[in-house]
This record gives sequence, structure tokens and C-alpha cells, in this order.
Amino acid sequence: MTGVRIVGVGHYAPERIVDNQELETWFDTSDEWITSRTGMKRRHWTSPDEATSDLALAAARNALANANLEPGDIDAYVVATVYPDYLFPATACIVASKLGAVDKAAFDIEIACSGFIYGLTVTSSLVRAGVYKRVMLIGAETLSKLVNKEDRGTAILFGDGAGAVILEASEQDSFLAAELGSDGSKPELLRVAAGGSRRPVDHAALDEGADRIYMEGREVFKFAVTKMIAATDAALAKAGLAKSDVDFLIPHQANKRIIDAAMKYLDIPAERCVVNIHEYGNTSAASIPIALSEAVRAGRVKPGDVIVFVGFGGGLSWGAVVWKWA
Ligand code: ACO
Repeated sequence: MTGVRIVGVGHYAPERIVDNQELETWFDTSDEWITSRTGMKRRHWTSPDEATSDLALAAARNALANANLEPGDIDAYVVATVYPDYLFPATACIVASKLGAVDKAAFDIEIACSGFIYGLTVTSSLVRAGVYKRVMLIGAETLSKLVNKEDRGTAILFGDGAGAVILEASEQDSFLAAELGSDGSKPELLRVAAGGSRRPVDHAALDEGADRIYMEGREVFKFAVTKMIAATDAALAKAGLAKSDVDFLIPHQANKRIIDAAMKYLDIPAERCVVNIHEYGNTSAASIPIALSEAVRAGRVKPGDVIVFVGFGGGLSWGAVVWKWA
């Protein structure tokens, strides 16, 4: 088996910024409440004519430039998203085509906010097994189009953006271990109830908000803290590493208080954890690759650093990947 490493990173967020002050004009909320409960200050939202593939495309171009590669150099394109351009075709097909990458493999992964963690495990495995030499993984989301803008409990949380990584076969192996999990027994805790085959969208018959994100925030919060820590522990054990071996934590950006709990457990100081939730809010499958791209471009990640990527979300689902930066 060959190894895998990341040879390029990129990210993109739409121009329009929705700050907490703007949200104060929509419903009964305050900058103080949002900041203290979530750590969020702003989020980027798409314009009506921008779709998920547009953000993915911009992040992909950014990553190709960073790696000094052409679209045709990539063997497979994978997009992790919970809100594709269409139910089908896959958003990855649209992105590959718009890049001018002809006849390449392309598919989507849908496991909500855990999408990048699952995607990194799947794409790394494709490279390590020798199936493909180079794979691009993009996390891209436009959840501003899916939130109920009258529900202050969820409308404040989500932002739009995309982050991309290019994986390449390598003698050194960056992928040390992964732990993935799911529990689909309570979909009602976090879901979009209508729009799938269980309940096709029929606007005339929909009860209010059934085609928008619904979340039991407090329940999801408790689950998130528990699973983030358990997944990290399990992935580190599989890698034969201890908490003290971790140089860098790059968590899903869902809530600053959840990130703080993970940092405390791992005993990771603030300078070794990437937090950009104040700028982007929760961008679901895009949050970890955006954070990684920012950290790499800022020179915060050094060769040899052991990174824990950890995320959780709808499913419910969770996962952690231990990665040695090369
Ligand atoms: N402004 C002001 N008050 C608010 C707001 C708001 N925007 N939203 C809720 N409140 C009120 C509630 O109505 C409630 O009032 P009450 O006590 O009178 O009933 C009070 O604030 C407390 O509400 P809680 O929901 O208990 O607040 P909590 O401290 O749990 O924070 C939050 C809510 C931020 C949503 C938190 O629960 C959270 O972050 N949960 C996890 C979210 C998450 O991680 N999602 C990840 C996956 S997303 C995916 O996969 C697509």
C-alpha cells in the first residue's frame, strides 16, 4: 500500500456578510446572546444566483493553484455537501466539468457536517489502495438557503463556503487512523424533514418549515461534546498515539463552547487549535477544509505536525481522522 499526503489546499466564501447586528433586525436576538452562546460574529451568505457548485469551483481552483496542478492532473473529484445543486446529478460532476477535467471520476458524499471527515477517510483510502494517484476532496455548503429565516434558534448558526484539499500518492503516509460512527435512530433531532423520498416536497401540503433545517439544539450539543471526545480518543488509540502527541486540533466549527470542551479535554492551548467560527459560522462539511486552508496558508501547520480533524453532525454522525502533515 502506498501513502497519501495533502499537496494543495484552497477555500472560498461568498462576498455577502451577515453579521449579528443584521440578525438583530430580523428577530428577537442580540449580538451578546449569539457571541456568548456560539462564538459567532459573522457568516458569509450566497446571493440568490450562487449555488453550491459555484463555491466548490472557486475553492477547487484555489487548491489547484496552491498545488501548481491542472484540473486534468486530478483523477477523481469528490464533493461533500448536504445541499447539492440538484438531487441529481452529483455536484462533483458539475465542478469537474466546469474545471475542464474531462472524463474524470466524480461523486458526492452526504453525511451532513461530518462530510469532510468521512470524505477524507474515503479519498485517502482510494489513494492508499492505489486506485487513484490524485483525488480532490471539496466540502461545500450553502446552508443559508436551507435555514428557516424565522427560526432564531437555527438561522443564526449557518454560513456558506467551500474548502478543498488535493490528496496525492506519496512514500510518506499522512493518514494515521480514522474513527467514524453514526446513530440514525433519532433523525428528528436534526434534519430537513421534507424534500426526500419519505416526504417529497409538496408546498401546498407542507407544515411550516418542514423543508427547512430543524434542530433540537440542546440535545445535539450534548451529543456533539461526547462524540467529539470519544471519536478523538478512538482514532488516537488506533494510531497508537496519546493525547499529548497531538500538535494541532482542527475541529468542525459548530459552536465555540463545543470546541472549547474538546480543547480542554485534549489539553490543547488556543494557539494549537484552529477557530474561525466568528468569521464563518457553521459551514457544515466545508468548515474543516476552510479552517485547514487558512491554517496552512498562515504557516501555522508545520511538516511533522500531528493533526486531529474531528467533526459531527446530522445522522447523527461523527468522526475523527489523525493526520501527520507532510
Ligand atoms: N437569540 C436569543 N435567544 C435565543 C436564540 C437567539 N438566537 N436562540 C434560542 N434562544 C433562546 C431559546 O428560545 C431559549 O429560551 P427559553 O429558555 O425562554 O426557552 C434560550 O435561548 C436557551 O435556548 P437553548 O436552545 O437551550 O440554548 P443553548 O445554550 O443550547 O444554545 C445552540 C443553542 C447555540 C443552538 C446550542 O444548543 C448548539 O450549538 N447546539 C449544537 C448545534 C450543533 O452543533 N449543530 C451541529 C450540526 S449541524 C448539521 O449537521 C447540519
